[in-house]
Amino acid sequence: MLTAYDQYTAQIFDEAGIEVLLVGDSASNNVYGNETSLPVTVDELIPLARAVTRSVAHAFVVADLPFGSYQASPQQAFATAVRFMKEAEAHAVKLEGGLSVVPQVELLTSAGIPVMAHIGFTPQSEHNLGGYRVQGRGDAAARTIEEAEALQAAGAFAIVMEMVPGDVAAEVTKRLTIPTIGIGAGPDCDAQVLVWQDMAGLRTGRMPRFVKQYANLHDVLLEAAGTYASEVRDGSFPGPEHTFET
Ligand code: KIV
Ligand code: NA
Repeated sequence: MLTAYDQYTAQIFDEAGIEVLLVGDSASNNVYGNETSLPVTVDELIPLARAVTRSVAHAFVVADLPFGSYQASPQQAFATAVRFMKEAEAHAVKLEGGLSVVPQVELLTSAGIPVMAHIGFTPQSEHNLGGYRVQGRGDAAARTIEEAEALQAAGAFAIVMEMVPGDVAAEVTKRLTIPTIGIGAGPDCDAQVLVWQDMAGLRTGRMPRFVKQYANLHDVLLEAAGTYASEVRDGSFPGPEHTFET
């Protein structure tokens, strides 16, 4: 699984055989320029999700429900999820949280909306979790396992585990029948997810330990844009081959 937020990345990842594309609320800090995932809205995410669903031939497209759009009640979650299913034609939705969102997962799945769960470090509650840190260490491991089992029982079809110790993620994966998808949760999950701009090296600066960069798109684009600018300035672009004749 990779994130995708637009047409060309969705097409490329689909062609590459990425089976699940996530229109993450990470669009907040990877598309919209915010510091965190908190500010992004349903109205901002729906057009991105629609672009991705329109652009894939094979991939399963999951849309994140953003902060504030599902926590208040199962009814609120239902109304938001229906918008993503109808307006963006998403194939499933994802929401963050443990026992507190079990009623949401139960209502959505009973209404026919596939739900991907997300536990461990949940960025939408980073202020409550005391910042960006590994979850499920020590005594909290039992809690992580309990949450995963409750979300599976509520009907979730898969579960993301973010920044959970590898052995805890392995134990959850062993206990559950639904697939686990890790991000900073070690090699024993059933699947893995990364934010595409991290995976492809479009974002620069300090990366979390769990990121591996498979390309350096930042440097590729910097070089392309710089060369274009200097060729326009020195008159070597456009050349005769780019110019129409009378
Ligand atoms: O929004 C996102 O990108 C995510 C993944 C990192 C799981 O939720
Ligand atoms: Na997310």
